[in-house]
Amino acid sequence: MDILDIIDKKEKRETLTKEELQYVIDGYLNGSIKDYQMSALLTEIDLLGLSEEETVNLTDIMLKSGETLDLGFDNLADKHSTGGVGDKTTIVLAPLVASLGVKVAKMSGRGLGHTGGTIDKLESIKGFQTSMSLEDFKKQVDEIGLALVGQMGNLVPADKKIYALRDVTGTVDSIPLIASSIMSKKLASGAKNIVIDLKVGSGALVNNLSEAKELAHLMVKIGKENNRNIACVLTDMDEPLGNAVGNSLEVIEALNTLKGDGPEDLTNLVIKLGTLMTSMSLNISEEEAKKRIKENLYNGKGYEKMLEWVKAQGGNIKEIPLANNQKEIISKEEGYISHIDALEIGKLSRKLGAGRLSKDDNIDLSVGIVLNYKVGDYVNKGDVLATIFYNEKEITDEEFLSSYKFNKEKVEKPKLIIDIIK
Ligand code: URA
Repeated sequence: MDILDIIDKKEKRETLTKEELQYVIDGYLNGSIKDYQMSALLTEIDLLGLSEEETVNLTDIMLKSGETLDLGFDNLADKHSTGGVGDKTTIVLAPLVASLGVKVAKMSGRGLGHTGGTIDKLESIKGFQTSMSLEDFKKQVDEIGLALVGQMGNLVPADKKIYALRDVTGTVDSIPLIASSIMSKKLASGAKNIVIDLKVGSGALVNNLSEAKELAHLMVKIGKENNRNIACVLTDMDEPLGNAVGNSLEVIEALNTLKGDGPEDLTNLVIKLGTLMTSMSLNISEEEAKKRIKENLYNGKGYEKMLEWVKAQGGNIKEIPLANNQKEIISKEEGYISHIDALEIGKLSRKLGAGRLSKDDNIDLSVGIVLNYKVGDYVNKGDVLATIFYNEKEITDEEFLSSYKFNKEKVEKPKLIIDIIK
């Protein structure tokens, strides 16, 4: 076998066999296939795609490129978000489902670009530890029902190496490559029950609905082929999720949501994802799962579990630092808000210091933006549209206001949950 023949075969739109895909992944990991050869193949794949069978095979090979976890719980659930602006869902969802007896052993990432990462957000709670030994991880899941860390073991090294190359070769947006990247990691982390929140819109990895549906179907197929319960929820990411964007601000919003006092969109999303996770993991109807989720969202049990979780990971919930300065952004227009650009708000939050441009950048966990109105709301001239929390780095009113569009006619609130594929 030869990498040049494999590239040639893909160029002729022929299907690669599992042995050929194995040869590529092994060769790339051991260095016999070079970056420039791999990037030629990834570019072909980005342009011409992969068949379902190739994608399932590639996922299996990537999954087996490193360690896999088996924590031994049947009711173990995992949730993955493809990343958005203001997405603090995991911080609400994990303790909420754990309060109902679902086990959550989760690995999360740091933020990069305009999207945030759960690990950074949780680290805005003073003392919160995001790494621990496998033994402690398992013990914590066993004892309190949930644990969340940045990294655990050497899972899917093939994805680490290939993703880094995709990032610099413009091949991140290939649907089969995204499916195999996400699913190999989900499968490796061992959960029997998987819910994926696939964001669609300006602030998301995928902004086209038909591509999002294709990706969802692929991920569901891969999950089922590997005997997992899986559902993929397509959700809107044209405007930020909830009102807060920025690490500590998002944790505070997550805590309020667990006290039953969260923004409507975030609360609805948590109820939907929580229902699916609980129904799959406890093997109960969705109707019953939804009833239990809503109960624990409003009776304080989800919040209590959050406190238990934060304490177990060394955090002090009373210490979530906020930036020293606040500035209100006043509306110069009146009418219905027809658009708040999630991508632009994400970039502005990053400009304040809340996010990274490259993976070694330092971030300021205390800065960010709180929106007072969302798409479909009516505002008058002089209303406070948002508050900016800042330290050294600032943004201008004009920069902020350019993310908004207004309409004299009534604007409907966007539908957050677009579709569910399972
Ligand atoms: N997230 C991943 O983990 N992989 C991708 O390819 C894209 C998003």
